[in-house]
Order: sequence, then structure tokens, then C-alpha cells
Amino acid sequence: MGGTPGEDLAGKQVILGVTGGIAAYKAPLVVRGLKSLGIDVRVVMTDASRYFVTPTTLQTLSGRPVHTELFPETPPGAFEVEHIALADRADLLLIAPATADFIAKMAHGIADDLLSCIALATKAPVLVCPSMNVNMYLHPATRENLDILQKRGVFILEPASGELACGWEGAGRLPEPERIVAESKKILYQKDLAGISLLVTCGPTCEDIDPVRFITNRSTGKMGAALVEAAGLRGARVKVISGPVNREYAPWADVIMVRSAGQMLDAVRDNLSGADVLVMAAAVADYVPETYRGAKIKKGDKLTSLGLKSSPDILSTIRPFKDDKFFVGFAAETDNLSDSARKKLMNKGLDMIVANRVGESGTGFGSDTNSGLILSEAGVLDHFEQVEKEVLAHRILDFIRERL
Ligand code: PMT
Repeated sequence: MGGTPGEDLAGKQVILGVTGGIAAYKAPLVVRGLKSLGIDVRVVMTDASRYFVTPTTLQTLSGRPVHTELFPETPPGAFEVEHIALADRADLLLIAPATADFIAKMAHGIADDLLSCIALATKAPVLVCPSMNVNMYLHPATRENLDILQKRGVFILEPASGELACGWEGAGRLPEPERIVAESKKILYQKDLAGISLLVTCGPTCEDIDPVRFITNRSTGKMGAALVEAAGLRGARVKVISGPVNREYAPWADVIMVRSAGQMLDAVRDNLSGADVLVMAAAVADYVPETYRGAKIKKGDKLTSLGLKSSPDILSTIRPFKDDKFFVGFAAETDNLSDSARKKLMNKGLDMIVANRVGESGTGFGSDTNSGLILSEAGVLDHFEQVEKEVLAHRILDFIRERL
């Protein structure tokens, strides 16, 4: 598919500024992560950073010469003012790790090496990832310098806490490269959903029979997680209500974990008022045990059947509170995809429904891809066949955005 804003980061240029802290050893992994998104990475190193990681490593991984000098020798015929050229071409200046010294320089406009000149000259967004000893990080000078940067619109990725290389415990660890790459990706995306609040339900529900057993379904939360990730990248505020899943949602999402259909209903009801859009990607139980048995059902009890009752239908229950919110449902169907989905669209008062085939490989529960169609009251909006869930998520969001 094409045309999704920000979907393709290929060709975007990121300057990775590496400063002189021990966490510089993670910089090669940041380069790899960014490159895997098709991003053109230009590494700029301070003198001190070369004690911790070599230009050769970063050059090899980025596939570009590493920049270290403010006054490099320039080959004849290719003259440009390097720090200005780099600053102008950048779509993002990422500084990881950023030492206390470099943060102080940025806060006070000191430009005495290549990287600090670029930081002063660039009009691109800047993401700073501080990493240092906990006492240096908590020192009022560093706190004030970070405040200054934040007020100027610089993005700060707070360091993680834990055991530090210097032997101290506390805040100061550079976040994992995957997290730095995810934050960079988020900044690079076009924010066409800024100002929109999305409430997304994901995963299965688990309905307990006794302390040992429960009824559940095959949902892994992958489809929901793709929507959460895509919406956040495009600037939406995202809240997730998730049944038990074995995955982490995008770091910027506010996640509420629930277990049963009843708990999911309560959570949706409690959080609906702040949302502009509700997407019900969760596979909610239709039937739950009539009674929960507080003691384990024993083999000797000779149980032959299980009494079930209907669970609350979340979408139908919250329908009276819809107002001008945009409701999107999913329909998991093994047959009569279009007709069944249309009925659900009407019966549950939805604005849009994503009908996906289940029960075959490459679609529905647990798979990386999905097949089916997207419907509104006006008719079929789209057919999709074995489309990656990440790509489908953007497509669904495109349709939502057009209709808001
Ligand atoms: O999580 P994955 O492994 O990636 O799998 C994705 C998925 C197959 C679970 C997802 O794409 C999907 O189809 N989710 C909806 C599954 C489902 O419950 O479909 P349904 O046809 O039974 O329900 C229709 C709609 O009503 C759904 O939006 C559902 O969330 C909602 N519902 C269902 C039951 C209930 N008691 N209350 C509800 O609100």
C-alpha cells in the first residue's frame, strides 16, 4: 500500500550524535535499528566518545563516513560548510548518549566542536538521551539544563534506573537501543492524528472456571498492538485496555490490563469519556461460566458439563454513551464475512467495522498478516488480503482520519 503519511521512513536523514560516556557502546545498535527502517544515518562523534566506541564500527554499520572534525580537510570540488550542511539536511538530530557536559553546552549555546555546532545550527527536531552517573544526573545544574532544553522543545528521553557502569545504582542508564529507535521513529512520523484520543481494546479475555482453569480464545493482541503503535506514531494519544497477552505495547501508550469481559466492560466505561475514537480489536468472550468455583474442581467430581451464560456485550452496553465518538469494531468470521460484519455494524451501532477471516493460516488470530474487508454504513471501503497487521493498522487509521 502507499500514501500513508509517515509509513515510509526510507530516505529520512538522522544525525546520530555520540558523546563521551560509557553508554556509547550502545550507539552501534542504535545505528542498526535506524538503518533497518531505511533511515540514512550520519554519525557525528565528539572527541571523548572515541574512547568508548570506534569510528570504524559506526562507519561500517551506517555505511557512511563518520564525522568528527569541525575543520575537516575537504576534497577539491566538494566544498561545503560541513556542520551547516549536516544540520540543514537532518530530519532529526538524535544525541545518544548525551553526557552532562554536552547537555550543558546545548543549554548554553556553546558551539566548540562539530556536534555542538550542529546542535546550534539545526532546525530539525532534537532528541536527547541523557546517560551519566546518578549524582551527575540529579545535580541541580543538569536538572536545570535539561529543563532549559525541554522548554525549547527538545525531546528528552529520560534515562532508565538500575545498576550503573560506575558502580552506583539509580537513574542514568541509557535506555535500550530499541526504545531510542522507537522514540526517533515517533518524532519522524507525520502527526496527522495529533489532538485525537484513541481507546483501543486488545487481546483475549479470560473467564475463570475455578482457581486452575479458565475459558479464553486465540487472540494474541498483535492486531491491537499494531493499531496502538501506528496511532501513537501519528501523534494520537493512545490508551489500551488489554486482556492477558504476552507482549509489550508501544512505550507511549497508557496501558490498563484486565482479565475478564466484565472487567473490560468496566474499564471501557470508565475511560470512554476522554476518547474521540474507540477501536474494539479485543476478542471478548461471548460466554462465561455461570458460576466461579472457589475450590479446584477435582477429577473425582465427575464433571460432565459446564454451565455457561452470555457475557455482557461491551459495544452494545456503551452505545448510549457514544455521542459524537467514532466507534470501530472488528468481526472475526469463518464464513459469510461481509453479511455477518454488516449485521454487527448495524446491531452494535458502529461507524466502521473491520471484518477479518479466522480459522485459516495467514489471517486472524496470532498471525502476522490479516485478510478481510473494511465496511461502513456506505458499503465496502476496502478489501485486504494477507496484509501485514502493521500496514493494515495504518490503513484503518487512514479511514478513521478521513471520517473524523
Ligand atoms: O489479537 P490477534 O492475535 O492479532 O488477533 C486479532 C483478532 C482476530 C482478535 C482481531 O482482528 C479481531 O477480529 N478482534 C475481534 C474479535 C471478536 O471478538 O469478534 P466478534 O465478531 O466476536 O465481535 C464483534 C465486535 O464486538 C468486536 O469488536 C468485539 O470486540 C466486540 N464484542 C464482542 C463480544 C462482547 N461480549 N462484547 C463486544 O463488544
